[in-house]
Amino acid sequence: MSKNIIYYFSGTGNSLSIAMELAEKLGEAALIPVLSIDSDYMISSEVETVGLVYPIYMNATPQIIQEFISRIKFEKNCYVYAIATHGGIPGKAGCHLHKVLKDENISLKAYFEICMINNTPKGVAPKFLMNLDWEKEIAEDKVIPILQQSIEEIQSIVSFIQSRDTSSIEVLQAKEKGFQYWIMKQLWKVSGHSKPKLQFLLGDGCIGCGICEKVCTTNRIKLSAGKPYWEGEKCHYCYACFNFCPVQVIGVKYYTKKLGRYHHPDVGWEDVAAQKHLQ
Ligand SMILES: Cc1cc2nc3c(=O)[nH]c(=O)nc-3n(C[C@H](O)[C@H](O)[C@H](O)COP(=O)(O)O)c2cc1C
Ligand code: SF4
Ligand code: SF4
Repeated sequence: MSKNIIYYFSGTGNSLSIAMELAEKLGEAALIPVLSIDSDYMISSEVETVGLVYPIYMNATPQIIQEFISRIKFEKNCYVYAIATHGGIPGKAGCHLHKVLKDENISLKAYFEICMINNTPKGVAPKFLMNLDWEKEIAEDKVIPILQQSIEEIQSIVSFIQSRDTSSIEVLQAKEKGFQYWIMKQLWKVSGHSKPKLQFLLGDGCIGCGICEKVCTTNRIKLSAGKPYWEGEKCHYCYACFNFCPVQVIGVKYYTKKLGRYHHPDVGWEDVAAQKHLQ
């Protein structure tokens, strides 16, 4: 049993790259995909640190991470920390995680954010919030320095974890006050109950490779006569299908341009797909 366990979720590889780098630098660490755990889950008393690594969605914690948190139990208290990756506008996502954990009587000991590359032109946001020149934001000259910086940040995070530092929680607590925080709490309540629909659109030129089906983190993509279709509404909004299609024919409502797709350069669709099976 490893002393350090890192649970991760990643749609386009940013969080996975951080989790892998962290595991290497921490040592004696096991990387476990949240997607591979679908029932109640006990964390052994031999574990000393538990990390959650995931992307920020809509200034909050992804549903898949919230569900995981509701299923875990601890044999004994340990140092629980989180690293949230984001595209530059994290908002009060850390306060959201803090609240989600508190509601489950789990004490968060440290929280870190790492700015990476936004993996979507629109999230689940309405049309007026979309950036239609999104492809310019993910040009190589912008991507590489940001990703290099993200790796550098991990070293200092590792030092915090190794010294069991808790000072980042004071920073979170300072943000958990005032009218702005009250507004955020109301928004989280609404978004917690809402089920936004993400409508993907298949353009011309699909080569029937099946990558979208394999990479889909909820398995809602099926192939029929070599072409994908999106079954039902269960979606993690991970944008893996949109970003990993090798011929960029998957669009999303309001964004059907072929330009502008992103995944972490060191992470392939196979790594994202493997989250569903690895344990
Ligand atoms: C549905 C959705 C919502 C997002 N919301 C935010 C957000 O509120 N703030 C932000 O800075 N980035 C946001 N992002 C960008 C991701 O947090 C960022 O690209 C992250 O590093 C992706 O991680 P991954 O590659 O591990 O999936 C969002 C991405 C998606 C797909
Ligand atoms: S449909 Fe696309 S965005 Fe939704 S879970 Fe599957 S891969 Fe992710
Ligand atoms: S990943 Fe793209 S090309 Fe491959 S089957 Fe899906 S839509 Fe078609």
